Amino acid sequence: MDYKHKGTLSKGGMVNMDEIKNAVELLLKARRVSALTGAGMSAESGIQTFRDKDGIWTKMDPMKWATREGYLENPRLVWEWYEARRNQVKNSKPNDGHRAMAEFEKIFGHFSVATQNIDGFHKLSGSKNVHELHGNIFRNKCFDENKILEELDESTIPPRCPHCGALARPDVVWFGEVLPQEVWEAAFDDAKNSDVYMVVGTSGTVYPAAGLAAIAKKNDAKVVIINPEDSEIDLLADVLIKGKSGEVLPEILRGLQAGK
Ligand code: OAD
Repeated sequence: MDYKHKGTLSKGGMVNMDEIKNAVELLLKARRVSALTGAGMSAESGIQTFRDKDGIWTKMDPMKWATREGYLENPRLVWEWYEARRNQVKNSKPNDGHRAMAEFEKIFGHFSVATQNIDGFHKLSGSKNVHELHGNIFRNKCFDENKILEELDESTIPPRCPHCGALARPDVVWFGEVLPQEVWEAAFDDAKNSDVYMVVGTSGTVYPAAGLAAIAKKNDAKVVIINPEDSEIDLLADVLIKGKSGEVLPEILRGLQAGK
């Protein structure tokens, strides 16, 4: 493999190139690769994470408002909070990390991304095999019947379900709700059957999503974690890369392309 990049990544400062090389070596031997991504994946696109300082949760208490009960208590407040987040996503773009992920699909026999993010950026940047574990902020559904609503009359806020008149709500997973079953099962199977499992930009605090890394590890996958900070699941890592996904993932992609 003539992949001999030395030193550190330009903007990221102290990323250890040896760890990137270790990840590339594992990946070059792998056929089935999957990834779990979190808010850090979109941080370089300008989307706030949840738990970092200035994160989304510093302004709204999620345990109160990102719940069915919170929505019923003040639907307008919660709808407008999601509207603000939708606008933030609309005014942002996928970053180099998302684009590298999309390229991985072309390299491995199997590659999928299970994402906790609701911004849709993996699909927007060309990834096809994406499991949106926590839903998608641009999709809405009926609060009572759970049916997806394609068109909404936004002359009232929040809009109403055109079929039954119940409140419309974003099709995202709130606290206390279960993950969409088919999506979860697909992500679970991919974790279980991975040769290498990549964990990118997540604090590893929210279950069941965070548990996917342990499922992969238990089934003999090598786990590669990419995060500039410590996460709750670092102990699972075979390779721990302390760096930003928008810098590390393109570097891994270059390594894979050079090592083919
Ligand atoms: P968190 O906000 O908990 O964690 C974001 C992680 O991204 C942190 O570990 C950061 O260190 C890391 N990070 C920041 N910038 C990064 C970068 N440029 N590259 C890589 N990593 C970076 O977000 P999640 O782990 O995604 O769920 O949170 C999980 C879930 O908690 C969310 O999906 C949401 C929330 O409750 C629901 O709303 C259901």
